[in-house]
Amino acid sequence: MDPVTRLGVVGCGLMGSGIAEVAALHGLDVRIAETTPDAAEAGLRRLTTSLDRGVQRGKLTEEQRDQALARLSLTHDLGEMADRQFVIEAVAENRDIKSDVLRALDKAVEDPQAILATNTSSIPIVDLAVTTERPGQVIGMHFFNPVPVQQLVELIPALTTSQETLQRTRNLAQLLGKQAIQAPDRSGFVVNALLVPYLLSAVRMVESGAARPEDIDQGMELGCAHPMGPLRLLDLIGLDTAQAVAESMYEEFKEPLYAPPPLLRRMVAAGHIGRKSGRGFYPYDA
Ligand code: 3HC
Repeated sequence: MDPVTRLGVVGCGLMGSGIAEVAALHGLDVRIAETTPDAAEAGLRRLTTSLDRGVQRGKLTEEQRDQALARLSLTHDLGEMADRQFVIEAVAENRDIKSDVLRALDKAVEDPQAILATNTSSIPIVDLAVTTERPGQVIGMHFFNPVPVQQLVELIPALTTSQETLQRTRNLAQLLGKQAIQAPDRSGFVVNALLVPYLLSAVRMVESGAARPEDIDQGMELGCAHPMGPLRLLDLIGLDTAQAVAESMYEEFKEPLYAPPPLLRRMVAAGHIGRKSGRGFYPYDA
Protein backbone atom coordinates (compact mmCIF):
# COMPACT_ATOMS: atom_id res chain seq x y z
CA MET A 1 0.00 0.00 0.00
CA ASP A 2 1.61 3.26 -1.14
CA PRO A 3 1.48 5.99 1.48
CA VAL A 4 -0.79 8.88 0.55
CA THR A 5 1.11 11.83 -0.89
CA ARG A 6 -1.63 13.49 -2.99
CA LEU A 7 -4.64 14.51 -0.93
CA GLY A 8 -7.84 16.25 -2.00
CA VAL A 9 -10.02 18.28 0.36
CA VAL A 10 -13.48 19.36 -0.76
CA GLY A 11 -14.80 22.39 1.11
CA CYS A 12 -12.61 25.04 2.67
CA GLY A 13 -14.81 26.08 5.60
CA LEU A 14 -13.80 25.72 9.24
CA MET A 15 -13.08 22.01 9.00
CA GLY A 16 -11.80 21.77 5.41
CA SER A 17 -9.30 24.59 5.87
CA GLY A 18 -8.05 23.01 9.10
CA ILE A 19 -7.65 19.58 7.46
CA ALA A 20 -5.84 21.12 4.48
CA GLU A 21 -3.53 23.11 6.78
CA VAL A 22 -2.55 20.07 8.83
CA ALA A 23 -2.00 17.94 5.74
CA ALA A 24 0.18 20.57 4.04
CA LEU A 25 2.21 21.01 7.23
CA HIS A 26 2.80 17.25 7.26
CA GLY A 27 4.24 17.29 3.76
CA LEU A 28 1.27 16.27 1.61
CA ASP A 29 0.45 17.82 -1.74
CA VAL A 30 -3.06 19.16 -1.04
CA ARG A 31 -5.64 20.23 -3.61
CA ILE A 32 -8.64 22.07 -2.18
CA ALA A 33 -11.93 22.38 -4.04
CA GLU A 34 -14.42 25.16 -3.28
CA THR A 35 -17.54 26.16 -5.14
CA THR A 36 -17.13 29.93 -5.30
CA PRO A 37 -14.09 32.24 -5.48
CA ASP A 38 -15.34 34.07 -2.34
CA ALA A 39 -15.54 30.86 -0.32
CA ALA A 40 -12.10 29.78 -1.57
CA GLU A 41 -10.61 33.15 -0.68
CA ALA A 42 -12.16 33.12 2.82
CA GLY A 43 -10.92 29.58 3.43
CA LEU A 44 -7.40 30.36 2.25
CA ARG A 45 -7.37 33.49 4.43
CA ARG A 46 -8.37 31.46 7.48
CA LEU A 47 -5.69 28.90 6.71
CA THR A 48 -2.99 31.52 6.16
CA THR A 49 -3.95 33.37 9.37
CA SER A 50 -3.67 30.13 11.30
CA LEU A 51 -0.20 29.42 9.84
CA ASP A 52 0.89 33.01 10.58
CA ARG A 53 -0.30 32.59 14.14
CA GLY A 54 1.84 29.44 14.38
CA VAL A 55 4.86 31.50 13.29
CA GLN A 56 4.05 34.31 15.76
CA ARG A 57 3.76 31.80 18.60
CA GLY A 58 7.10 30.24 17.68
CA LYS A 59 5.55 26.88 16.76
CA LEU A 60 6.44 27.13 13.06
CA THR A 61 9.33 28.71 11.20
CA GLU A 62 8.58 31.06 8.32
CA GLU A 63 10.09 28.44 6.04
CA GLN A 64 7.68 25.75 7.30
CA ARG A 65 4.75 28.10 6.75
CA ASP A 66 5.90 28.97 3.23
CA GLN A 67 6.54 25.32 2.36
CA ALA A 68 3.05 24.40 3.59
CA LEU A 69 1.49 27.17 1.50
CA ALA A 70 3.46 26.03 -1.55
CA ARG A 71 1.98 22.52 -1.19
CA LEU A 72 -1.58 23.86 -1.49
CA SER A 73 -3.52 24.39 -4.70
CA LEU A 74 -7.09 25.55 -5.18
CA THR A 75 -9.67 24.56 -7.75
CA HIS A 76 -13.37 25.11 -8.45
CA ASP A 77 -13.58 21.93 -10.51
CA LEU A 78 -13.92 18.50 -8.88
CA GLY A 79 -12.56 17.08 -12.16
CA GLU A 80 -9.15 18.31 -10.99
CA MET A 81 -9.23 15.72 -8.21
CA ALA A 82 -8.54 13.06 -10.90
CA ASP A 83 -4.99 12.23 -9.71
CA ARG A 84 -5.74 12.17 -5.97
CA GLN A 85 -5.08 9.03 -3.90
CA PHE A 86 -7.33 10.10 -1.04
CA VAL A 87 -10.03 12.77 -0.90
CA ILE A 88 -11.74 14.06 2.23
CA GLU A 89 -15.02 15.87 1.78
CA ALA A 90 -15.79 18.55 4.38
CA VAL A 91 -18.78 20.31 2.83
CA ALA A 92 -21.96 21.38 4.67
CA GLU A 93 -23.54 18.83 7.01
CA ASN A 94 -26.32 17.96 4.58
CA ARG A 95 -27.00 14.47 3.26
CA ASP A 96 -27.91 15.55 -0.30
CA ILE A 97 -24.93 17.89 -0.68
CA LYS A 98 -22.51 15.27 0.67
CA SER A 99 -23.97 12.53 -1.56
CA ASP A 100 -23.68 14.78 -4.62
CA VAL A 101 -20.03 15.56 -3.83
CA LEU A 102 -19.14 11.91 -3.23
CA ARG A 103 -20.84 10.81 -6.46
CA ALA A 104 -18.97 13.51 -8.40
CA LEU A 105 -15.67 12.50 -6.77
CA ASP A 106 -16.35 8.85 -7.56
CA LYS A 107 -16.52 9.78 -11.25
CA ALA A 108 -13.62 12.24 -11.15
CA VAL A 109 -10.97 10.28 -9.22
CA GLU A 110 -9.23 7.97 -11.68
CA ASP A 111 -7.64 5.36 -9.39
CA PRO A 112 -10.44 2.92 -8.47
CA GLN A 113 -8.55 2.12 -5.26
CA ALA A 114 -8.45 5.76 -4.18
CA ILE A 115 -10.33 6.42 -0.96
CA LEU A 116 -13.20 8.86 -0.51
CA ALA A 117 -13.57 9.90 3.12
CA THR A 118 -16.34 11.97 4.60
CA ASN A 119 -15.90 14.30 7.55
CA THR A 120 -19.59 14.06 8.39
CA SER A 121 -20.39 14.47 12.08
CA SER A 122 -23.56 12.44 12.08
CA ILE A 123 -24.79 11.13 8.72
CA PRO A 124 -24.59 7.30 8.49
CA ILE A 125 -21.51 6.44 6.42
CA VAL A 126 -23.18 3.53 4.68
CA ASP A 127 -25.89 5.83 3.28
CA LEU A 128 -23.18 7.95 1.67
CA ALA A 129 -21.04 4.96 0.61
CA VAL A 130 -23.79 3.27 -1.40
CA THR A 131 -24.37 6.37 -3.50
CA THR A 132 -20.95 5.67 -5.10
CA GLU A 133 -19.63 2.83 -7.28
CA ARG A 134 -16.86 2.17 -4.73
CA PRO A 135 -18.58 1.57 -1.37
CA GLY A 136 -15.54 -0.46 -0.22
CA GLN A 137 -13.38 2.65 -0.48
CA VAL A 138 -15.71 5.03 1.36
CA ILE A 139 -15.13 5.69 5.08
CA GLY A 140 -15.89 8.27 7.77
CA MET A 141 -12.92 10.33 8.94
CA HIS A 142 -14.23 12.76 11.52
CA PHE A 143 -11.95 15.59 12.64
CA PHE A 144 -12.52 17.99 15.55
CA ASN A 145 -12.50 21.75 15.67
CA PRO A 146 -10.01 23.47 15.64
CA VAL A 147 -8.42 20.76 13.51
CA PRO A 148 -4.80 21.94 14.03
CA VAL A 149 -5.28 21.68 17.81
CA GLN A 150 -7.53 18.70 18.51
CA GLN A 151 -5.66 15.40 18.54
CA LEU A 152 -8.57 13.12 17.74
CA VAL A 153 -9.88 11.63 14.54
CA GLU A 154 -12.78 9.19 14.60
CA LEU A 155 -12.52 6.47 11.93
CA ILE A 156 -15.91 5.12 10.99
CA PRO A 157 -15.96 2.10 8.68
CA ALA A 158 -19.40 1.40 7.21
CA LEU A 159 -20.68 -2.16 6.74
CA THR A 160 -19.38 -1.84 3.18
CA THR A 161 -15.88 -0.46 3.98
CA SER A 162 -12.95 -2.79 3.24
CA GLN A 163 -10.28 -3.61 5.82
CA GLU A 164 -7.65 -2.18 3.48
CA THR A 165 -9.51 1.15 3.36
CA LEU A 166 -9.66 1.24 7.16
CA GLN A 167 -5.94 0.51 7.43
CA ARG A 168 -4.95 3.11 4.83
CA THR A 169 -7.11 5.70 6.59
CA ARG A 170 -5.53 4.80 9.93
CA ASN A 171 -2.11 5.27 8.31
CA LEU A 172 -3.14 8.68 6.96
CA ALA A 173 -4.40 9.79 10.40
CA GLN A 174 -1.02 8.81 11.83
CA LEU A 175 0.82 10.68 9.06
CA LEU A 176 -1.23 13.77 10.00
CA GLY A 177 -0.11 13.42 13.62
CA LYS A 178 -3.59 12.51 14.87
CA GLN A 179 -4.76 9.85 17.34
CA ALA A 180 -7.44 7.68 15.82
CA ILE A 181 -10.26 5.84 17.53
CA GLN A 182 -12.60 3.51 15.70
CA ALA A 183 -16.24 4.50 16.07
CA PRO A 184 -19.48 2.73 15.16
CA ASP A 185 -21.51 3.78 12.12
CA ARG A 186 -24.33 5.11 14.32
CA SER A 187 -25.38 8.73 14.00
CA GLY A 188 -23.14 10.79 16.33
CA PHE A 189 -20.45 8.05 16.35
CA VAL A 190 -18.76 8.18 19.78
CA VAL A 191 -17.97 11.80 20.60
CA ASN A 192 -21.06 13.60 19.32
CA ALA A 193 -23.30 10.91 20.83
CA LEU A 194 -22.06 12.14 24.22
CA LEU A 195 -21.35 15.79 23.43
CA VAL A 196 -24.52 16.84 21.58
CA PRO A 197 -27.04 16.01 24.37
CA TYR A 198 -24.84 18.01 26.76
CA LEU A 199 -24.71 21.03 24.43
CA LEU A 200 -28.47 20.90 23.83
CA SER A 201 -29.10 20.71 27.59
CA ALA A 202 -27.13 23.94 28.00
CA VAL A 203 -29.31 25.62 25.33
CA ARG A 204 -32.45 24.42 27.15
CA MET A 205 -31.09 25.87 30.38
CA VAL A 206 -30.72 29.29 28.71
CA GLU A 207 -34.10 28.94 26.98
CA SER A 208 -35.93 28.23 30.22
CA GLY A 209 -34.30 31.22 31.90
CA ALA A 210 -32.70 28.91 34.48
CA ALA A 211 -29.18 30.31 34.00
CA ARG A 212 -27.25 32.84 31.92
CA PRO A 213 -24.77 31.67 29.24
CA GLU A 214 -21.85 33.25 31.16
CA ASP A 215 -22.73 31.35 34.32
CA ILE A 216 -23.24 28.04 32.53
CA ASP A 217 -19.92 28.38 30.72
CA GLN A 218 -18.02 29.49 33.79
CA GLY A 219 -19.55 26.61 35.71
CA MET A 220 -18.21 24.02 33.29
CA GLU A 221 -14.86 25.75 32.75
CA LEU A 222 -14.07 26.24 36.44
CA GLY A 223 -16.02 23.34 37.87
CA CYS A 224 -15.08 20.62 35.41
CA ALA A 225 -11.90 22.02 33.80
CA HIS A 226 -13.42 22.06 30.31
CA PRO A 227 -11.38 24.39 28.07
CA MET A 228 -14.59 26.19 27.14
CA GLY A 229 -18.17 25.96 28.36
CA PRO A 230 -20.97 24.48 26.22
CA LEU A 231 -22.32 27.77 24.80
CA ARG A 232 -18.90 29.09 23.82
CA LEU A 233 -18.26 25.69 22.26
CA LEU A 234 -21.52 25.89 20.31
CA ASP A 235 -20.41 29.29 19.02
CA LEU A 236 -17.11 27.71 17.93
CA ILE A 237 -18.72 24.69 16.22
CA GLY A 238 -21.41 26.87 14.58
CA LEU A 239 -25.05 26.65 15.66
CA ASP A 240 -26.08 25.68 12.12
CA THR A 241 -23.74 22.69 12.17
CA ALA A 242 -24.83 21.74 15.69
CA GLN A 243 -28.49 21.87 14.62
CA ALA A 244 -27.81 19.70 11.57
CA VAL A 245 -25.93 17.15 13.69
CA ALA A 246 -28.71 17.06 16.30
CA GLU A 247 -31.32 16.60 13.56
CA SER A 248 -29.47 13.61 12.08
CA MET A 249 -29.15 12.05 15.51
CA TYR A 250 -32.83 12.68 16.26
CA GLU A 251 -33.79 11.18 12.92
CA GLU A 252 -31.81 8.04 13.73
CA PHE A 253 -32.89 7.43 17.34
CA LYS A 254 -36.06 9.53 17.89
CA GLU A 255 -34.75 10.31 21.38
CA PRO A 256 -35.97 13.68 22.76
CA LEU A 257 -32.50 14.39 24.13
CA TYR A 258 -31.22 14.82 20.54
CA ALA A 259 -34.07 17.14 19.41
CA PRO A 260 -32.80 20.67 18.67
CA PRO A 261 -34.52 23.06 21.12
CA PRO A 262 -36.57 25.94 19.66
CA LEU A 263 -34.02 28.55 20.82
CA LEU A 264 -31.31 26.86 18.75
CA ARG A 265 -33.58 26.81 15.69
CA ARG A 266 -34.53 30.47 16.15
CA MET A 267 -30.91 31.57 16.50
CA VAL A 268 -30.00 29.67 13.32
CA ALA A 269 -32.97 31.23 11.51
CA ALA A 270 -31.81 34.67 12.66
CA GLY A 271 -28.28 34.01 11.37
CA HIS A 272 -26.82 34.12 14.90
CA ILE A 273 -24.77 31.01 14.26
CA GLY A 274 -21.67 31.74 16.31
CA ARG A 275 -18.16 33.03 15.72
CA LYS A 276 -18.30 32.67 11.96
CA SER A 277 -21.27 35.09 11.73
CA GLY A 278 -20.01 37.50 14.42
CA ARG A 279 -22.83 36.59 16.80
CA GLY A 280 -24.09 33.53 18.64
CA PHE A 281 -24.56 33.24 22.39
CA TYR A 282 -21.85 35.93 22.53
CA PRO A 283 -20.83 38.77 20.16
CA TYR A 284 -17.56 38.47 18.17
CA ASP A 285 -15.47 40.86 16.12
CA ALA A 286 -16.16 40.34 12.43
N1 3HC B 1 -4.44 26.59 14.79
C1 3HC B 1 -3.34 26.24 15.49
N2 3HC B 1 -3.24 26.37 16.84
C2 3HC B 1 -4.30 26.90 17.48
C3 3HC B 1 -5.49 27.29 16.82
C4 3HC B 1 -5.53 27.11 15.40
N3 3HC B 1 -6.61 27.42 14.68
N4 3HC B 1 -6.36 27.74 17.74
C5 3HC B 1 -5.75 27.65 18.93
N5 3HC B 1 -4.52 27.13 18.77
C6 3HC B 1 -3.54 26.80 19.81
C7 3HC B 1 -2.84 28.05 20.29
O1 3HC B 1 -1.69 28.32 19.50
C8 3HC B 1 -2.50 27.68 21.71
O2 3HC B 1 -1.32 26.89 21.76
P1 3HC B 1 -0.22 27.13 22.93
O3 3HC B 1 -0.98 27.13 24.21
O4 3HC B 1 0.71 25.98 22.78
O5 3HC B 1 0.37 28.47 22.60
C9 3HC B 1 -3.64 26.78 22.14
O6 3HC B 1 -4.23 26.27 20.94
C10 3HC B 1 -4.67 27.55 22.92
O7 3HC B 1 -5.13 28.63 22.12
P2 3HC B 1 -5.53 30.06 22.68
O8 3HC B 1 -4.62 30.42 23.81
O9 3HC B 1 -5.64 31.01 21.53
O10 3HC B 1 -7.02 29.89 23.16
P3 3HC B 1 -7.61 28.95 24.25
O11 3HC B 1 -6.64 28.57 25.30
O12 3HC B 1 -8.86 29.63 24.63
O13 3HC B 1 -7.96 27.62 23.42
C11 3HC B 1 -9.26 26.20 22.05
C12 3HC B 1 -8.81 27.63 22.32
C13 3HC B 1 -8.09 25.40 21.50
C14 3HC B 1 -10.37 26.29 21.01
C15 3HC B 1 -9.76 25.56 23.40
O14 3HC B 1 -10.65 26.43 24.03
C16 3HC B 1 -10.44 24.22 23.20
O15 3HC B 1 -9.80 23.18 23.03
N6 3HC B 1 -11.78 24.23 23.24
C17 3HC B 1 -12.60 23.01 23.08
C18 3HC B 1 -12.76 22.71 21.63
C19 3HC B 1 -13.58 21.47 21.41
O16 3HC B 1 -14.17 20.87 22.31
N7 3HC B 1 -13.62 21.04 20.14
C20 3HC B 1 -14.43 19.92 19.73
C21 3HC B 1 -15.68 20.46 19.14
S1 3HC B 1 -16.75 19.16 18.62
C22 3HC B 1 -16.37 18.93 17.01
O17 3HC B 1 -15.54 19.58 16.41
C23 3HC B 1 -17.13 17.84 16.33
C24 3HC B 1 -18.13 18.36 15.35
O18 3HC B 1 -18.64 17.26 14.65
C25 3HC B 1 -19.28 19.12 15.98
